[in-house]
Parts: sequence; structure tokens; C-alpha cells
Amino acid sequence: MTQRPMRARARAHANIALVKYWGKRDREHNLPAEGSLSLTLQALQTTTSVRFDPALDSDRLTLDGTPATGKALSRLSAWLDIVRARAGCSAFADVVSDNDFPTASGLASSASAYAALALAATSAAGLSLTPTELSILARRGSGSAARSIFGGFVRMHRGTREDGSDSYAQPIDAGEADESDETTWPVRMVIAIVGDGGAKKHPSRDAMEHCARTSPLYAGWLASVPGDLQAAADAIAARDIRRLGDISESSALCMHAAAMASRPAIVYFRPTTMSCMETVRALRSRGVLAYYTMDAGPHVKVLTTKEHAREVATALARIDGVSRVIESAPGPKAELIP
Ligand code: PMV
Repeated sequence: MTQRPMRARARAHANIALVKYWGKRDREHNLPAEGSLSLTLQALQTTTSVRFDPALDSDRLTLDGTPATGKALSRLSAWLDIVRARAGCSAFADVVSDNDFPTASGLASSASAYAALALAATSAAGLSLTPTELSILARRGSGSAARSIFGGFVRMHRGTREDGSDSYAQPIDAGEADESDETTWPVRMVIAIVGDGGAKKHPSRDAMEHCARTSPLYAGWLASVPGDLQAAADAIAARDIRRLGDISESSALCMHAAAMASRPAIVYFRPTTMSCMETVRALRSRGVLAYYTMDAGPHVKVLTTKEHAREVATALARIDGVSRVIESAPGPKAELIP
């Protein structure tokens, strides 16, 4: 271990699911109950550096400048054990991770965090993994992180094997960019941060397990996913944002309906969330191409086009309770920083 490079830094971008991941088929390997489909975003980025150091007596994590303890640290240590076992190394690690957006607020920080970590930690440990292997490793930290290894539109496979070796993400070829077709494509995402962007009440991992255990709507939600995945992939191939947007809204509402029907209920929406959804519907009735989706938090992410992104951002920024609006183009794959 001492002969190898022991330090590396990587950058990854968050992704927003258009067909959601909500539920696991295996807890230990963190395997999804169904596939999912997402868009990686340029504007939401995490930079992580990892240093394995034999002089350390435990793993250390600094998150946005603050030392982390408790759950976040023990979850990281358990994940680092997978990397250590694979690399045959016993040194503890010093991990420093910085997000340029609010952490743990339903803005997919764990996705970019574990994607950047997978790349930085394996490189620091002297491992050289394929993108598929990185996606599988990132998935062990967070299901959605498997998708942030790749840029643009990404599809996550459920897989059927017990060891999870066929449960990984792959980029979707969205065709050559045709800038002359700006009315329906290229796509953009506009994010309305609702409230102060503070930590969410129900972390997704616990919430999806609680939902699977107690919600009478969970089975119906799961049954909706395969058809939505195929339809979303077809819509991307056809560059049909209307169809893709309709599927995104339905998938998000179906996931949230299942969560809300949990006992006790899991409700991520705030009144401002509903106002944003209403505004998106009103924009659409005026011919603006805009479609909402929400994750394990109150924020509203709107799929739109380059042509309409500014109008969508302006309308969302006017809503009472929206503290910040972020416009984003599709983002790149995770990369090492020299
Ligand atoms: O990757 P996790 O465990 O944080 O779960 C992500 C869950 C959602 O964001 C709600 C949906 C998704 O597919 O990203």
C-alpha cells in the first residue's frame, strides 16, 4: 500500500431522476427493486478528495468544511471497508467533500458524493475500475450515485443477481446535439429551492424502507416503473420532451403517493412545493414546455428546454417561499481532478 499513490481528488455531478428509484430488493448490497432513469446536472457538483494514511487511527470526513460524525461517518467507513478489502489496504482515510449546493435537502447530494468518492477512493487506493465497476461500487453507498458516474441521460438497471453484479447504470445515447432544434431540445433543468434548503426530515434510505413495509400503494408504484422506463427511453430516443415530461411527472407523483400512504405518512411536499407545481401547469397551458419532478425533499425540479429555461426560472423565483432558483444544462460524467 505504501508504494501506491494514496491520494486522489474527483468531481461528480448530481442527477435528478425522471423515472424514480424508490425501494430496494436487497439492503446489504443496496440493490434497487426496479430500474430508474435520470439526468446528470452541470450546476450541482461535488468535489471530493481522499487520502489513505497509515498514521490515522480512524476514518475522517469533512463535509462542506464541517467535521462529520455519527451516521454519515459510520456509513462512509462501512463503504470504505469495501474499497479497502478490494485494494488489500488497511489504512484509514481522510475524506474532504464539498458541495456547491445545499446538502441532504433532497437535492441528491448523496448521488454526486458517492460517485465522486468511488472515483477518488479507488484511485487513491491504487485500483483502476471500469465505469461499470465504479457504478456498482457507488451504488453500495447510495442507489442514485450509480447514475452520477455518467453524464447526460442515464439508465440504471435493476439486475437480477443476488451479488448486484448486474445492477449498474449506463449512459443513454441521446443522439447528436442539434442546436437548430431549440424549441423542444436541448433540455434544461430549473430547480426551485423551497425554504432554507436545510436537512430533510426523512432520509431517503429509511423512508423508502418504511414505505415498502407499510404503504398499501407500494406494490402499485413498483408495477408502474418498467413501463415508464421503456416509455422514457423511447421519448429520449425520439427527442420528445412532451412525452418525457409527462412520464416524469407521473413517476414522481406515483412515488410520492406511495410515500404519503405510508403509515405513519411521509409527506415531502410543502405548500410552496404545490405552488411551484401549479405554476408549472400554468406555464404549460401557455405553451411553455415545463414538467416538474420532486424527490425526498420539498424542492421542485423542472424539466424544460434551453429556449424556455429563463421564463421558467423567472416564474419560479417569484413564488413566495422559493429561496433560490438554479438553472442547469445536462452535466458530464464523474472525473478525476489532476
Ligand atoms: O440514492 P438514495 O438512496 O438517496 O435514493 C434516491 C431517491 C430519490 O432521490 C427520491 C429518487 C431517485 O431516483 O433519485
